[in-house]
Amino acid sequence: MSAPITKRALVTGITGQDGSYLAELLIQKGYEVHGLMRRSSSFNTERIDHVYQDPHAGPSRLTLHYGDLTDGNALSRLVRTVDPHEVYNLGAQSHVRVSFDQPVYTGETTGIGTLNLLEAVRVHQEETGRPIRFYQASSSEMFGLVQEVPQRETTPFYPRSPYGCAKVYAHWITINYRESYGLHASCGILFNHESPRRGETFVTRKITRAVGRIACGLQKTLWLGNLDAKRDWGFAGDYVDAMWLMLQRDEPGDYVIATGETHSVREFCEKAFACVGLDWEQHVRIDPRYFRPAEVDLLLGDAQKARQVLGWEPKVGFEALVGQMVDHDLELARREHTLFRAGHAVHLPSEA
Ligand code: NAP
Ligand code: GDD
Repeated sequence: MSAPITKRALVTGITGQDGSYLAELLIQKGYEVHGLMRRSSSFNTERIDHVYQDPHAGPSRLTLHYGDLTDGNALSRLVRTVDPHEVYNLGAQSHVRVSFDQPVYTGETTGIGTLNLLEAVRVHQEETGRPIRFYQASSSEMFGLVQEVPQRETTPFYPRSPYGCAKVYAHWITINYRESYGLHASCGILFNHESPRRGETFVTRKITRAVGRIACGLQKTLWLGNLDAKRDWGFAGDYVDAMWLMLQRDEPGDYVIATGETHSVREFCEKAFACVGLDWEQHVRIDPRYFRPAEVDLLLGDAQKARQVLGWEPKVGFEALVGQMVDHDLELARREHTLFRAGHAVHLPSEA
């Protein structure tokens, strides 16, 4: 049974990976959670259905509202209706490769969408006189062509994609609202974080989905792009703790959230295939379509400030993360295999 309701939180991007873990965390802490979701022609609430339908959580713990970060008027109405104590802006066109195909849309959603939400919060705060705390999902992608190793809060940004540029705008406009209007606004500069709920076109999940399917005989080959890129990969469940901790501080601030370890895509493949006793080199092939016009070669974060000020530590290490994702996706592939054998249509990626 969760704790009695104390605060209201509004979360954009609630249907995404982080939104689902954050919703669980906030409900467990006794919040009434309101989520912004986009209208879609097919269901897009798979990651939060278990929270929405949890009989122990009570009907008012999670409420979903249709909206879009590009619709500023609707955001203003929503903030007025929900009257939140805390706002977490996790919504974004978050795929770096896709941002090269949809640069304007990415700028409008990931960049200007943040401004739309900040404006709604600023106006509501002024009207009610009650402070609202704001969290902005900033990204290690802003470091891009890294100017320093490891990257910390003071490292200059050098974004390498329309997504990275949009996140730099969102980051600075959040800081500007903090400095101009005294908004309690914090930016979490989060390095890559993954989980069994990760979108299937991000490289880690693409790999673990393929490992499960290859192990079950549903797929033969995994097509990837740049295997040399290195990322500081953590577990999403650990990272949403940091978001909440930032908003509990008396003073707002900006924090790097990272594990302090970096691994290449090649290493991730090696580990993931080894979990099911397979040699990755027998299955992975390179497809130039998955290379990016400009790449971020190396990300490695220094989360010392978060450790000292927030008392935040990552709990799940690289091997455990890979193992957890492979176990989950192996189970998923086994279920798909059973359906496949029973003659049901199983959606398989076109070797994507
Ligand atoms: P995700 O799984 O891709 O989720 C993105 C969320 O944003 C989804 O709920 C999506 O809705 C929603 N969204 C997309 N466009 C929108 C729009 N125009 N209006 C309203 N909502 C919209 O991303 P994530 O991994 O959870 O990441 C959460 C946030 O952290 C994002 O801002 C991301 O850029 C940032 N970030 C992520 C990482 C990481 O490694 N995961 C690292 C640093 C920063 P649909 O479900 O309808 O698509
Ligand atoms: N997606 C993808 N697909 N990436 C591939 C592939 C592939 O087939 N092959 C190699 N890669 C490489 C990419 O070139 C990149 O260097 C690396 O794998 C990681 O790619 P993604 O998993 O797509 O993540 P990302 O680092 O570009 O972006 C993620 O992390 C950012 C934080 O640094 C996203 O979650 C962003 O929203 C987030 O801000």
